[in-house]
Amino acid sequence: MGWLAFLQGGYQRLRLQTRFALHIILLVAAIFAVLIPAVLMIQESAILGTARDNGLRLVTIFAFSSVPALVADDFLGLRQVVNSLGQERDVRYAMILDLQGRVLIHTLVRETGAVYHDRLTRHALAATAPVYEEVRTPQGEILYDFATPVLILNQRRAVARIGISMADEVGLIRRTRNTILGLGVLTLISGLLYAHFQTRRLTRPIQALAQGAQALALGELSHRIRLDREDEVGHLAEAFNRMADQLRQSREKLIQMTRLESWQALARKMAHEVKNSLTPIRLTMEEISARSTGPDAEFLRQAAQIVVDEVVSLEKRVRAFSQFAAEPPVCPERLDMNALVEDRVSFLRAAHPEVSYSLDLAPGPLVAVADPDLVKGVVTNLLQNAAEAARSGGEVLLKTVAHGRKVLIEVHDSGPGLSPEARGTVFEPTISFKKGGMGLGLSIARKSAVLCGGDIAVIEGQLGGAGFRVSLPAAVEDARAAAQPTPAAVLTR
Ligand SMILES: Nc1ncnc2c1ncn2[C@@H]1O[C@H](COP(=O)(O)OP(=O)(O)OP(=O)(O)O)[C@@H](O)[C@H]1O
Ligand SMILES: [Mg+2]
Repeated sequence: MGWLAFLQGGYQRLRLQTRFALHIILLVAAIFAVLIPAVLMIQESAILGTARDNGLRLVTIFAFSSVPALVADDFLGLRQVVNSLGQERDVRYAMILDLQGRVLIHTLVRETGAVYHDRLTRHALAATAPVYEEVRTPQGEILYDFATPVLILNQRRAVARIGISMADEVGLIRRTRNTILGLGVLTLISGLLYAHFQTRRLTRPIQALAQGAQALALGELSHRIRLDREDEVGHLAEAFNRMADQLRQSREKLIQMTRLESWQALARKMAHEVKNSLTPIRLTMEEISARSTGPDAEFLRQAAQIVVDEVVSLEKRVRAFSQFAAEPPVCPERLDMNALVEDRVSFLRAAHPEVSYSLDLAPGPLVAVADPDLVKGVVTNLLQNAAEAARSGGEVLLKTVAHGRKVLIEVHDSGPGLSPEARGTVFEPTISFKKGGMGLGLSIARKSAVLCGGDIAVIEGQLGGAGFRVSLPAAVEDARAAAQPTPAAVLTR
């Protein structure tokens, strides 16, 4: 049983492609193993059967035609019959024996008078009906020996025998067998080639899928499977790519959240350290300014005012940092996004009247499920940045789009846009070069979007400047789907 286990082990280790090919080869070989011998057998028995029937007919005619000569003891007539038979191409001998085995007439004249006792002759003498037997001559030729009794007035008086060569039939059988075997081998080889190509075609996408899964398991989340197919395998590859996409997005969000957390810890610490020192500095400076007298009083008041202004600005920054470090409670509810963005734009119009605004809203109520305060903060932040980037005379476009289970809000502006480097870092807390900017707006906005189960991404701007897209979970009427948490909701738990 050891070798069986060995074979089984070997089979398990084979590649899918080799296994497929092996199965097809075994199947084709099994079909041939049954089919070819059956065809050869049928063909051989058909050829030999015809030859036998002809031989039996000939020997019967021979017996009949020898009767008149035998009755009349007309040996000349008998010789004529035998000779004409002997001229036939396949006939090797023809003879008439009496019932003791003595040769009355033979195609070979010298055999006349001889007495045969061999097994074949005994068999022929015993025959009461036409019989035959296969004989091989010393030269290796296959003969059929046909014998039939010569009946005179229903009495067995002699035996007629003919030896017919089967060389032609054997040759025909051999040729047919070789042709069938040749065709069989040819079919087998083409079958193997076909099986090889077919299995390769079938198993290659499966190999690609297996490699993809392996790459994913090793953390290569950017690995994608390129298959130009519309069948089940193609759908599987598509599903695989979608899954890899989702995994990559989830990982990116996780990284972003982790980074944000460390930034928040830093901001919390800094705000705490700086806040306590700022108030006494401001109060002291105000005191100095109030008490200053003498010739330098004006100068001191101005200097104190500069310090106080800077301290106020610093306090503002500290407040922003505290806000950034805060963990706001998330209370999702149904929000009509079209109404919400219209409301935000009207606020911004007042703050930045130098910019023109246009709205491109999805038809009908566009309902998302998210925390209203967080979403308002996100949209305001994006609009604020857009208006600041667009500057006087610039344009800001706000779009809402229903997209499957997501509600999308896009903000485009006609400003200078984002450099490729900036695209990679805009969502991280950075140093702002804007007057009064904290460099925290976008990172807070992304955190808020993720907390609501959505995200923000930089997209191609439609007004020549920057473009941002916020995605939020759409309100789902199906209770079952609504109960499923989004990946981000899982992440933030
Ligand atoms: N629409 C935009 N066009 C061009 N650059 C932009 C745009 N939005 C943001 N940026 C760039 O990204 C940086 C980060 O923006 P973010 O909103 O985080 O900070 P901020 O606007 O500088 O400060 P604040 O914290 O007050 O919002 C900006 O300083 C600006 O350089
Ligand atoms: Mg900003």
